[in-house]
Amino acid sequence: MIILTQLQFNNSVVKLSLDLKYATPGTWTSTVMNDFNSFLQDHADCERKASAMALSFVSKCPDKVKIIPWLIETALEELEHFQQVYKIMESRGVKLKNEMPQDLYIKKLLDMLRTKPEERLLDRLLLASIIECRGTERFRLVAEALEDAELKSFYKKLWASEAKHGNIFVQMALEYYDKNETYQRLEELTEQE
Ligand SMILES: [Fe+2]
Ligand SMILES: [Fe+2]
Repeated sequence: MIILTQLQFNNSVVKLSLDLKYATPGTWTSTVMNDFNSFLQDHADCERKASAMALSFVSKCPDKVKIIPWLIETALEELEHFQQVYKIMESRGVKLKNEMPQDLYIKKLLDMLRTKPEERLLDRLLLASIIECRGTERFRLVAEALEDAELKSFYKKLWASEAKHGNIFVQMALEYYDKNETYQRLEELTEQE
């Protein structure tokens, strides 16, 4: 599978994901560093949910055969991330949370989905890209703040992997939707995020 990071569009090169409009503040990073074990619990859950999200697309669009292999691969990669984070948790004696509070960030994003089935699928793919881009930004912050060499290298690798996912969901959208429509909607959703 070839993963593009840029695309020729209207005679200019465009990125497969847009820059986020909001930058995570430094207070977020210091909160993470002050309670890294709690961060690991949240992180593990995010990876597990990311894997489930990629698989949920398979059930939502079984007819979109061109993207099914990409979805399966993404689900596997996220599951592997979950496995890796869980291993780190085990080594630190950290358990998964018994219950996860509702994720308000995801809930608010889902509120932005349009209702017509084809529009909804496009929105879902683009929101998945935005969520992956947000993960990329945050793993970069975590990697930069960490001092432990092994953990730092782990979060750097994740940062690269999530950046690839940020692109692949837009690439999937472009397999089935018009470029203008895709980028216009991506811009709108990025703005709202
Ligand atoms: Fe991941
Ligand atoms: Fe990801």
